Amino acid sequence: MLPVLVCLALAAFVAALLGSLHAGRIVTLHLILAVGAMPLIFGAMNHFIPVLTRTRAPGIGLAGLPVLALAGGVLAVAAFGLPGMAWGRYAGASLALMAAGLLLAWSRRRRTGMLGRPHPGLAWYEAALACLACALLAILAGALWPQQWAGLRRLHLHLNTLGFIGLTAISTLSVLLPTIAGRPDPDVGSWLRRNLPWAVAGTLLVAIGAAWFGPLAWAGAAAWAIPLGRLGARWLRLYRVEIFALHGAAPLLATALAGFAASMLFGAAAVLFPASTPTSVFVAGFLLPLVSGAASQLLPVWLRPGVQGDWHAALRGRLGRYGGIRAALFCLGGIAGGTGREWGLLLGAATLLWFMLQALAALMHANAIRQETP
Ligand code: HEM
Ligand code: HEM
Repeated sequence: MLPVLVCLALAAFVAALLGSLHAGRIVTLHLILAVGAMPLIFGAMNHFIPVLTRTRAPGIGLAGLPVLALAGGVLAVAAFGLPGMAWGRYAGASLALMAAGLLLAWSRRRRTGMLGRPHPGLAWYEAALACLACALLAILAGALWPQQWAGLRRLHLHLNTLGFIGLTAISTLSVLLPTIAGRPDPDVGSWLRRNLPWAVAGTLLVAIGAAWFGPLAWAGAAAWAIPLGRLGARWLRLYRVEIFALHGAAPLLATALAGFAASMLFGAAAVLFPASTPTSVFVAGFLLPLVSGAASQLLPVWLRPGVQGDWHAALRGRLGRYGGIRAALFCLGGIAGGTGREWGLLLGAATLLWFMLQALAALMHANAIRQETP
């Protein structure tokens, strides 16, 4: 299921970015975020929640949740892009809300059914799902309080980008980079525990502040700067060699962290300089290196779960080749996009396409080896 969701997300990203010159901004963004990223995050959470709670793998029924989220995303895009589909935004928000509520309830059940305490990453995932649910409720509330629509819309967008995607991504990155480097960070659990309140407070303050009371948003940006600054400083101390390498997934994951921080800087700056486009930095400088970097590391496990051997290492090596150059290109694309240059998003699309072709060749090679050595 997960490899299919990764392919779907990558295809949605490329299609949306290449079409971004013709389709409207809202359609492009929702194709990327609601059709591409949201179902992939649901799939990744289905995979990671049992790991974090040390419980058994989920049954097949849970695979319905990413599909439900996907249906919600597709309806939202259809509502923005097709005439006569305006009802789709409420139907889409309801379906995605249902998926978020069910996944959150399932996670809470796993938490109470386990022995001992869960990994602290679980609380980040649950906070992320709660943010998504509130962001979708804001869309539904817009039908009841149209006079509050401007505020609800800003609430929706900040809760989704900083809360749903941001909290999921930062907690996953904090665990994934040490794994990639092969040198686990023993303090990652306490980092997650200590920094969740800052990240959640930051998200809520930015979202509520941007919607109704500007000064709160600045306090929120300052709160988010604490976990991001701490994680960045820690990575530079512990994993500098892997981050500034030519190959591998580490440069991409470090770029994703920097891109997330940069999208906040551009978001905060957009209030003063309306020409800056934080959503483009968010997509080209954060989401694309995040998904391609995480896929380089995780696709081999997702394709062949169980004991990791030479086959996994070889495939991972091929997926990560020239990861450092792609990271630099995503950085450049993000900054160009953020300063309102359309070629920034196109550079991001071209770099992603490069990764997709490389991944196809790597998978074909890995498949050939698998058939040779049954
Ligand atoms: C599936 C359910 C979703 C629905 C029904 C929905 C609906 C909407 C609506 C109605 C708007 C305002 C559009 C306008 O101004 O005309 C909007 C804006 C926005 N949404 Fe969503 N959304 C959904 C999911 C998401 C997700 C999952 C994300 C991100 C993770 C997201 C991020 C955004 C952003 C960033 C904007 C503001 C775009 C801009 O002004 O540049 N949405 N959404
Ligand atoms: C932590 C950093 C952030 C702060 C302090 C912040 C603050 C704000 C504020 C105060 C507004 C309202 C502007 C106004 O009254 O005209 C706003 C709007 C907006 N923000 Fe953010 N923001 C941040 C991060 C982001 C990020 C990361 C994104 C994109 C991914 C984003 C996208 C937007 C958009 C598209 C609008 C315009 C919404 C509209 O058209 O009404 N912001 N932000």
